[in-house]
Amino acid sequence: MPEHETVTYPEADPPDRRFKRIIGNSAALEFVLGQVEQVASTDSTVLIEGETGTGKELIAQAIHSSSERYGRAFIKLNCAAIPLDLLESELFGHEKGAFTGAIAQKIGRFEMADKGTLFLDEVGDIPPAFQPKLLRVLQEQEFERLGCGRTHKVDVRLVAATNRNLGKMVARGQFRSDLYYRLNVFPILLPALRERREDIPALVSHFVKIFSRRMKKRVESIPPDTMSALQWHSWPGNIRELQNMVERAVILSQDGMLHNPLRNQRTDSAWEDSDPALILETLEEAGWVVGGPRGAAAKLGLKRTTLLAKMKKLGISRPISQEGTEMVDMAREAYARKMPRLERVRQRESSSILEIGVNESPRFCAE
Ligand SMILES: Nc1ncnc2c1ncn2[C@@H]1O[C@H](COP(=O)(O)OP(=O)(O)OP(=O)(O)O)[C@@H](O)[C@H]1O
Ligand SMILES: [Mg+2]
Repeated sequence: MPEHETVTYPEADPPDRRFKRIIGNSAALEFVLGQVEQVASTDSTVLIEGETGTGKELIAQAIHSSSERYGRAFIKLNCAAIPLDLLESELFGHEKGAFTGAIAQKIGRFEMADKGTLFLDEVGDIPPAFQPKLLRVLQEQEFERLGCGRTHKVDVRLVAATNRNLGKMVARGQFRSDLYYRLNVFPILLPALRERREDIPALVSHFVKIFSRRMKKRVESIPPDTMSALQWHSWPGNIRELQNMVERAVILSQDGMLHNPLRNQRTDSAWEDSDPALILETLEEAGWVVGGPRGAAAKLGLKRTTLLAKMKKLGISRPISQEGTEMVDMAREAYARKMPRLERVRQRESSSILEIGVNESPRFCAE
């Protein structure tokens, strides 16, 4: 019987853990942190890529904090949030009267970040019309404020981030290749949370502590079914989604325990989006047990009946006897070929098939 995870509240942070705010010790995250250590001390441009919520901003801050520029400004600009006509003035600043509405001089982000780091978030959203201007300042480290001919020289280290595939955007002609190569000096790819599930328990405990403190609420333990459900959810919104889910669970907790916040989620949309390969993988990991605290439904954060209905819709059933592995492989291949529906595979020769769904554990019945 798996133990409840006990949440400990140490008086202070553990001493000398590198990158204290970055939780997790999976090989995938360690690889990223190794890259951060390698590149931080240089002045090279870093391009951080990864799905939404994977921690790109946290990594950008870690690069700055581990660099010799630490103590100087870390200036951020979200390129997606600024309309084209304001982007130039945001980055380069303007003189009073440079355009209608420019009632005072404004210092741009490049100047603010002088001797420090400029973090350009959502860099893939920079409109094509502005891309040559950004390229110039990255190459020359010089620019002019709007409404002023004087050239300003700066010493700025650039870290850029995007959740878009810039390489593909270049191929489609949506992003300038010369700017892409200038940004892509040292790429860091952040893995999705589902690719480093081993980090989830530590992240859950970390967020439980944060929200318990913030809400002045003591959550002492995390039952195994909750942890298992959180660990096996697909997390399309990655760590941000996990963080929000834990916050919700802490709000709802009344007995010092963290109950599974995924249980009462609307499942219809998750249904439509759910990944058949993930379902197969989870069923395999759970030994094809669907219900119960260690079953695939709990791991996926679904109700047992929901998972059973999904399996039926997709034609997924447990592979039988020696051919089991082979059938799972066939199923995987079928999905890989993007077959709209996986045909239910049955072993004709066998006198029995496995039926999952009536009981907590699978049982065989005569066909
Ligand atoms: N390894 C981690 N340890 C602790 N907290 C993390 C970790 N990674 C991310 N977070 C937290 O998750 C949230 C999302 O991270 P962040 O904003 O850095 O993601 P992002 O990749 O920039 O997302 P987006 O593409 O949507 O901007 C933040 O609150 C961040 O502090
Ligand atoms: Mg971000």
